[in-house]
Amino acid sequence: MNTLSILSAADLKKTFRVSSQGHSTRSLTALDQVSLRLEAGETLGIAGESGCGKSTLAKIMAGLLAPDSGTVCYKGTPLSELGRDEGIIFRLKTQMIFQDPFSSLNPRMRIGDSISEPFKIAGMAAPQQRIELERIMASVGLSLEAANRFPDEFSGGQRQRIGIARALAASPEILIADEPVSSLDISIQAQIINILLQMKCDFTLSMMIVSHNLLILRHICDRIIIMYLGAVVESGPAAKLFSRCRHPYTEALIAAIPGLHTTAAKSELLQDDLPSALSIPSGCRFHPRCRHAVDRCRHESPTLTDYSDGHSTACHLSNSLYG
Ligand SMILES: Nc1ncnc2c1ncn2[C@@H]1O[C@H](COP(=O)(O)OP(=O)(O)OP(=O)(O)O)[C@@H](O)[C@H]1O
Ligand code: SF4
Ligand SMILES: [Mg+2]
Repeated sequence: MNTLSILSAADLKKTFRVSSQGHSTRSLTALDQVSLRLEAGETLGIAGESGCGKSTLAKIMAGLLAPDSGTVCYKGTPLSELGRDEGIIFRLKTQMIFQDPFSSLNPRMRIGDSISEPFKIAGMAAPQQRIELERIMASVGLSLEAANRFPDEFSGGQRQRIGIARALAASPEILIADEPVSSLDISIQAQIINILLQMKCDFTLSMMIVSHNLLILRHICDRIIIMYLGAVVESGPAAKLFSRCRHPYTEALIAAIPGLHTTAAKSELLQDDLPSALSIPSGCRFHPRCRHAVDRCRHESPTLTDYSDGHSTACHLSNSLYG
């Protein structure tokens, strides 16, 4: 593990017990041996289809959910070994924007008070708090007049903006954003993305951004990790992933972006539906949907192999398919 990384994870595994037909319970593997690192000032994107483990990974990296095994380190120290003061610093400096912003807001607290909490903790004088509140709310397209209202008086998109304002008010060092713009109109999406990019420049923020939208990730991120059924299948510099991906799943995701590729439709590249996380296929977990699958793929799980420039992929045939 790179001890210089601001946040890193090694061999994370997370399973959930889920009821099956209302009686017995089964183990669902949400994350399987996931390792990653987030460098200071870097923006890392996490992509993959619904249910591949992105939110689970985001919550574990933010210290909000414990893995079954594996370690998350903050500046090289495992979260479980952080002292009391270091733990408080980690929680303050690591802010999360949730996929469902309603769950992160206290329904009985006026949103102005929710957003201002970090100002109060920092001992900021009341008039200054008001100025900062107005500035932060304006930056996400909310007027100060909304500060006196409660979370259930807002639309989903407005609540997402409140969640973002709340995270930004803490002047975080690390921002973990789970689908931060998916519920917003296109015009507001662009506004929020610009705010995140601006925050990144102004405060050397390190960001981990989960999104279904690969184009947004390409625009914002330095590196992108592609997940499939709980595992990392490819990771690399954002531009490289688009210009020269090395995994058939990444290729399929890129081909599915409307208007980007006209030569290959998604249906030509992705076979069948996503299998259930309750029964992950043997060998390469992508093999039932991969048009390149050979016998070896059905039995032997490919390991994540490094290529140049921090580009890595888990595919037995990567060299023969992509050179
Ligand atoms: N609390 C839970 N109990 C049981 N299963 C869970 C729980 N949380 C997540 N899962 C399961 O773990 C897997 C990964 O879920 P996760 O929410 O991390 O996926 P995701 O990639 O964020 O999906 P989406 O893009 O739809 O948000 C899924 O199969 C999901 O059903
Ligand atoms: S290992 Fe085989 S099945 Fe998996 S992505 Fe590569 S070619 Fe396809
Ligand atoms: Mg999710």
